[in-house]
Amino acid sequence: MSLLTVTDLTVAFGDQVVVDHVSFAIDTGERIAIIGESGSGKTITALSIIGLAPDTATVTGSIVFEGTELIGRTDRQLSKTRGEDIAMVFQNPLTSLNPLMRVGKQIAEPLRRHHGMSRSAARTAAIELCQRVGLPEPERIVRSYPHQMSGGQRQRVGMAMALACRPALLIADEPTTALDVTVQAEVLTVLADLVQQESTALLFITHDVALVPIVADRLLVMRQGRVVESGSAADLIASPTHEYTTSLLAAARKTAL
Ligand SMILES: Nc1ncnc2c1ncn2[C@@H]1O[C@H](COP(=O)(O)OP(=O)(O)OP(=O)(O)O)[C@@H](O)[C@H]1O
Ligand SMILES: [Mg+2]
Repeated sequence: MSLLTVTDLTVAFGDQVVVDHVSFAIDTGERIAIIGESGSGKTITALSIIGLAPDTATVTGSIVFEGTELIGRTDRQLSKTRGEDIAMVFQNPLTSLNPLMRVGKQIAEPLRRHHGMSRSAARTAAIELCQRVGLPEPERIVRSYPHQMSGGQRQRVGMAMALACRPALLIADEPTTALDVTVQAEVLTVLADLVQQESTALLFITHDVALVPIVADRLLVMRQGRVVESGSAADLIASPTHEYTTSLLAAARKTAL
């Protein structure tokens, strides 16, 4: 049995269908990327998995995580799954970080809430997590506020927070888009190493195909709400079969020049 099985996921806003019978599965520890142009339904797919699609959306189909159907669960039922079993890293870490709270406390908070850790144990764990995501001087970092850090450092904190409770699945939606190109690769390499060490499954969303080989083994290509192609990331990038994938790759190569 897969860790996550999405079957015929369909999301509509009124009569506008933005995710159209999307099906895929992720095994324990497997790393999958979704690519596709802006508006193809990547983010809505990810948000639907953790029950955070907008209230105005109609979500149908099936999302089974560790044997449990998630569609139709209430917010309250999902709140335990969220953060503890499935965690998410967003494009802009400032939206997930509290500007008024020291980052150490923010990393420690889910450990206290979900794992019942003592304050000092959670603080020690937060320092260790900062070290693991490659933050310099972790003792100092945990006492900082988000605005005192660089964008790359904040995204590393976002990753530390997401991975604190050792979720089985991490969803990362364009986690490095806001960063410089060189910092992007560094942060993604750290992410790839961490999920590998912890056997965390990863759903990585990007519109930048050049980033896919750093973190993912398998690739889904979305267009206008549908999965148009899927397979091994290396194979698809070397020899795409769908015309749309070919054009995405050509566009990516052009920008790289
Ligand atoms: N709250 C909303 N109300 C109505 N339509 C929405 C809403 N959120 C998203 N959409 C529509 O759903 C479609 C898919 O959006 P989504 O955010 O999933 O795209 P995406 O593939 O993540 O794009 P990007 O690469 O720009 O992040 C788009 O056509 C978008 O306009
Ligand atoms: Mg998006």
